[in-house]
Amino acid sequence: MARYTLRPDHTVPPTPFYYYDLELLRNTLHCATTEANRYGYHIHYALKANVEPRILQEIQQAGLGADCVSGYEVRCAVENGFDPQKIVFAGVGKSDHEIEYAIRAGIFAFNCESLQELEVINALAAAQGKTVNIALRINPNVQPETHQYISTGQSESKFGISYTEIDTALARLHELEHIRIVGLHFHIGSQIRNLTSFAELAGRVNEIAAWFAQQGVVLKHLNMGGGLGIDYSNPDGEPVPDFATYFRIFHEHLHVSPEQTVHFELGRSLVAQCGELITRVLYTKTTAGGARFAITDAGMTELIRPALYSAHHKIENLTAEALGTAARPIDLYSIAGPICESSDVFARDIEFPLSQRSDVLTIRSTGAYGSIMASNYNMRPIAPSHFSDEA
Ligand code: LLP
Repeated sequence: MARYTLRPDHTVPPTPFYYYDLELLRNTLHCATTEANRYGYHIHYALKANVEPRILQEIQQAGLGADCVSGYEVRCAVENGFDPQKIVFAGVGKSDHEIEYAIRAGIFAFNCESLQELEVINALAAAQGKTVNIALRINPNVQPETHQYISTGQSESKFGISYTEIDTALARLHELEHIRIVGLHFHIGSQIRNLTSFAELAGRVNEIAAWFAQQGVVLKHLNMGGGLGIDYSNPDGEPVPDFATYFRIFHEHLHVSPEQTVHFELGRSLVAQCGELITRVLYTKTTAGGARFAITDAGMTELIRPALYSAHHKIENLTAEALGTAARPIDLYSIAGPICESSDVFARDIEFPLSQRSDVLTIRSTGAYGSIMASNYNMRPIAPSHFSDEA
């Protein structure tokens, strides 16, 4: 049961706070690894989704590797017990000191995103007297159906090396002595619910990998990135994403030779549904135009996704439910935070039980890209986290 429940006297710890259901997390990790293991696939957890130490601990113990997009994430993964040999490091703008740190830490591979980056990693590896593994992140020009801000694999995006540049990249790789190409990396976007995009990706990867094979390059690893979406509208209907179909699509469409391993970088699908943001109604009011507002003590500082991407999160009034909804008829509400920004609105004109000051609300499916994207805007403190196994 993913849902947070009020104490018997209907009280809660000081709000706002994040709540994580560790049982659902474990169940999700079990399903993901079971489905991946069917085909010998490797999963690296994308730390950018959430770095709560307790969550990282569960993920690391489940045997996953780590996908990092900054040197700080690489350090965090190492400090939380991830095997450096299972850490990959992507990102369009890796700074010198981040690269130096990752080389020293002995990570598995850098996912390189530009020709210039190849030169820089080569020089920094030479300075440490090392040769490091790299995978070329190739922009496959596949357009998934998702929000434009979270789609990354199209020809006009800043991510990856363009497929028109791969022959130049390969020629240069032969000359750079301190980097060794071990694979290819792709990531077409996030929150992808129409899984045919992944079949399309696999098809493009087959073409690109065949080209490398013709050039005599042995690719030991194919990294398909992340992107599997979750059901934000009905989190209780699909608490665990459909990993079976996701991995089966790659199994059916991706050509893999016996010496190759296939890797994935899952973030959202592993941690989103186990998290909730618990908040209280501070005030209710009705505008001159008749729109009802419930103003909560959580805002875009705790959860920026609605303001940034018009993202939808299911919101429920736990107090109204505990008291019995019959006494509280359904009405149209906009749920907004306390921040001095018009965009600080979690939901507009949604059907919601009659709500009043002090009611406790839950904002669902916030385990991924929730707490990690929090800010101190308006000088607000970072909200604490609570876990399902707390007394
Ligand atoms: N690998 C790479 C290279 C990525 O850029 C990402 C996400 C992932 C893996 C993990 O993707 P996932 O499995 O979580 O879809 N803040 C946005 C999402 C940004 C995703 C960025 N890249 C949101 O709140 O929707």
